[in-house]
Amino acid sequence: MRQGLVVGNWKMHGSRASVEALLGSLLDADVAQGAVVARVEAAVCPTYVHLAQALDLCAESSIAVGAQDCSHMQSGAYTGEVAAEMLAELGCHWVILGHSERRQYHAESDDLVAAKLAAAVEAGLQPIVCVGETREQREAGEAQVVVAAQLQGALTGQVGLAALVVAYEPVWAIGTGLTATPEQAQDMHTFIRGCLADIDAVDAAATRLLYGGSVKAANVAQLFAQPDIDGALVGGAALVAEEFQAIIDAAAVAAECHSE
Ligand code: PGA
Repeated sequence: MRQGLVVGNWKMHGSRASVEALLGSLLDADVAQGAVVARVEAAVCPTYVHLAQALDLCAESSIAVGAQDCSHMQSGAYTGEVAAEMLAELGCHWVILGHSERRQYHAESDDLVAAKLAAAVEAGLQPIVCVGETREQREAGEAQVVVAAQLQGALTGQVGLAALVVAYEPVWAIGTGLTATPEQAQDMHTFIRGCLADIDAVDAAATRLLYGGSVKAANVAQLFAQPDIDGALVGGAALVAEEFQAIIDAAAVAAECHSE
């Protein structure tokens, strides 16, 4: 049985005041609904500069904290970079890797994602590796080929699947208000699980697969009802406490249904 997982990707948003307000609301709900949260793991991924503040605020809660990226290098003259080990030492649990915005705006290749993945696992962080096709690729019938290549590219190293979470985030659905239909998402998740099973069938069955791309409270129940959608990577809706909490609650309901 795979535990539900809801991760908020805050991207380059926030101030100390907004982090305090947003986490304040989530933490109130966390205390009030401990039982709900027990069935679902929840995490937030603020910018690097807000990590320490978020970690302090979440210290006594069940909400974990993660980073949105890490360097592939361990230390050295890499101006502007942050090592996985530094994030682990700070107390981060998760790290998002290979997000399409990193691939698009920072020219991240599959090789670089693979190197970051190895560095993250080495440091003891739990990586969430993002894959997903563009609209043009989907329309050209290449969605599966693209996703398979991204997976293969990222998983070239000796990283065991047990340490891995994969997020399927179709680029055309990110921040656009266009969500993949539950069937489109489930189809791709089945395909991804199949790709992982080619590496290790037992671990693939236990690997959590998140869907991301315009997830919000209003559309998440149908997504979570799919057998291979184990949670969500949430962008815009993660910045609104009631929305994010509603998504966590929906994951808890889905976890209960799947376990019956
Ligand atoms: P979105 O972003 O929910 O705003 O579409 C998701 C993501 O980029 O992880």
